[in-house]
Amino acid sequence: MQSILVVGGAGYIGSHMLSHLQNAGYQPIVLDNLSTGHRDAVINAELIVGDMGDAALLDQLFQQHRFSAVMHFAGCIEVQESVTHPLKYYKNNVAATMTLLEKMQQYDVNHLIFSSTAAVYGEPQTALITEKHPLNPVNPYGRSKLMVEQIIKDMSEQGILKYAILRYFNAAGADKKKGMKERHQPETHLIPLILQVAQGIRENITIFGADYPTIDGTCVRDYIHVTDLCEAHLHALIWLLTKKQNVVCNLGVGRGYSVLEVLKVAREITAHSIPMVVSEKRPGDPASLVADPLLAYETWGWKASADLEMMVRDAWEASRELIKNEV
Ligand code: UFG
Repeated sequence: MQSILVVGGAGYIGSHMLSHLQNAGYQPIVLDNLSTGHRDAVINAELIVGDMGDAALLDQLFQQHRFSAVMHFAGCIEVQESVTHPLKYYKNNVAATMTLLEKMQQYDVNHLIFSSTAAVYGEPQTALITEKHPLNPVNPYGRSKLMVEQIIKDMSEQGILKYAILRYFNAAGADKKKGMKERHQPETHLIPLILQVAQGIRENITIFGADYPTIDGTCVRDYIHVTDLCEAHLHALIWLLTKKQNVVCNLGVGRGYSVLEVLKVAREITAHSIPMVVSEKRPGDPASLVADPLLAYETWGWKASADLEMMVRDAWEASRELIKNEV
């Protein structure tokens, strides 16, 4: 059985990935510092609690296991926080990743799946963003991910590794069959926050800016179900291990929804009025980010299947499960 090191495997997307790997016959081994991840999200897999920037720990890990690939989900992901705390982003996302990459090189582990982001594109110049769109990130988060992309490409040029760089649009939903959920502390993401209002945890949802040049003035994002994201990762892994070809690929649906449209769907699903207040724009937010998802389809014959309603419904059911279990 091939072992895969899943860095950040206790986090939202990484933990969802574990069962997809297991079902496909791989053995995931998780490295996570639990700064934002959850121990109980790692199901049926070994969890090593530690930091990817800890060279001594990585020495141990790479000596104990022969990994076929590394999947790198670990990182700080909040746009606004990256504006106010840029060094945290460069330290965790860039510097710590460099230690991981150094150890991959030292131990000759040469396949990497890297979680990148639509934030590397910055303000879109076209309605749909292809992978060839110029890379002009407008916040430190996006810049930190782009720096790592460049480091990985430079290493690959030297024959050190092969990579799949996956640029996520907005991950949402949960695998409710497995009792999985999205749990950020503090929560900053739109769909979980909206659902917290419906649960009575918050009074209202704040809309960050209503005068963007979009259909209704609120920001437009391409929401993709976390299960779809995981399936795409599996395609990328198999592709990398068999074809040994580099790929940089968007992971999105190709359809954008405004904040108000998301709110409308959530009101329908939760049967709650979910009051809103409009506030200032959030620094670093591009008006619209929608993927052109064609390359993923051409490369792996894969496209996302869940729609926004399913994402909100699954997130809603998962969040209610969470409350039930915590009471
Ligand atoms: N929003 C609100 N109110 C809130 C929270 C969010 O109006 O309380 C708006 C944001 O301004 C944005 C949209 O809802 O327009 C989505 O915001 P999220 O915080 O849910 O997600 P982001 O688009 O900021 O960022 C997410 C990930 C990033 C990733 C990016 C790619 O957190 O890691 O998607 O599109 F890079």
